[in-house]
Amino acid sequence: MTWMITGAGGQVGQCLQQQLRESRRRIIALSHNALDMTNDKLMTRVLNASKPQVVFNCAAYTHLDKAEQEPERAWSVNAHAPSALARWCNDNDAWLIHLSSDYVFSGWMADAYSESALPCPLSEYGRSKLAGEQAVMETCAKAIVIRTGWLFSQFGKNPLNDLLTNARKSHKVDVASDAYVSPTPAVALAEVMVQIANLAEQGRIPRGRYHFAGTPTASTYLFASEALRQAHKFGLIDEYCCLVPKPINQAGSRATRPHNSALISQKLPELGIYPPDWRIELSASLEAMKARQGLDDSELCQAFAS
Ligand SMILES: NC(=O)c1ccc[n+]([C@@H]2O[C@H](COP(=O)([O-])OP(=O)(O)OC[C@H]3O[C@@H](n4cnc5c(N)ncnc54)[C@H](OP(=O)(O)O)[C@@H]3O)[C@@H](O)[C@H]2O)c1
Repeated sequence: MTWMITGAGGQVGQCLQQQLRESRRRIIALSHNALDMTNDKLMTRVLNASKPQVVFNCAAYTHLDKAEQEPERAWSVNAHAPSALARWCNDNDAWLIHLSSDYVFSGWMADAYSESALPCPLSEYGRSKLAGEQAVMETCAKAIVIRTGWLFSQFGKNPLNDLLTNARKSHKVDVASDAYVSPTPAVALAEVMVQIANLAEQGRIPRGRYHFAGTPTASTYLFASEALRQAHKFGLIDEYCCLVPKPINQAGSRATRPHNSALISQKLPELGIYPPDWRIELSASLEAMKARQGLDDSELCQAFAS
């Protein structure tokens, strides 16, 4: 059995690789360097050579503001590449587990968005992600689309890493105070992707769109203050810094962001898969960062000693 991860160098891709480290399956993890998904011919060649039974598509163009300036690049990675991948998976009887986003919604609703809510993206990124999930659902018989929320982890560029970097640089950090999100630990998402792939192979999950995001819903301001409190406790920042409330759609930002992108999953709990509490997982991510920092320090000491 072969499972393939595309976009394996990104945040979720790295969590998924970590999750599958002990797996007895043959895991092929391809970073952007190894496989440019917008190169149709190369992608088909790679897929034909490895014949995966499950493909986790973690590749995406995730630069929200830049996507307004270069929409064709966003569409080619987020919409056209998933469509070609879905065609291959359909023709080769493989499962495609594709990631989509809370930004397919407008944020005008007062409640969290469930799987049955109507999408209405406000940005090029959101529109390209919606087109990608539609193409996947229309093309591939064994398709699972997982829409997820505001991801954080110890890996890559994400709101948690950005916050800590800014807090170390300055005593004042700007944070949006008028945006409600579902902070989602990328590690928990990776775990669920593997669980879903296993269910899919056993024929125990129907194809379709699913929401998976952390709970409870929080403002980005609340997330930031909790993250700083815990980071201070773990010794990842020396001092508390001041959070300066700002509107999510500041003058100068190109893309329009939804004020409410909270997600709720109605379908996964029916299969025994429940949303993670982001506050608990936040501690785990910070602890992992602290452990890595310790490792980096001792490696540095060894380098100086030798
Ligand atoms: N991050 C969030 O808060 C969030 C929220 C909701 C949904 N999602 C969705 O979750 C998924 C994973 O997000 P993430 O946080 O892991 O994003 P990420 O860290 O930006 O990872 C995306 C990966 O895709 C790669 N990539 C870009 N263009 C590619 C191409 N043409 N061919 C192959 N790989 C390419 C990127 O490589 P380079 O860095 O070299 O470009 C990067 O390694 C995406 O579908 C995203 O839309 C993310």
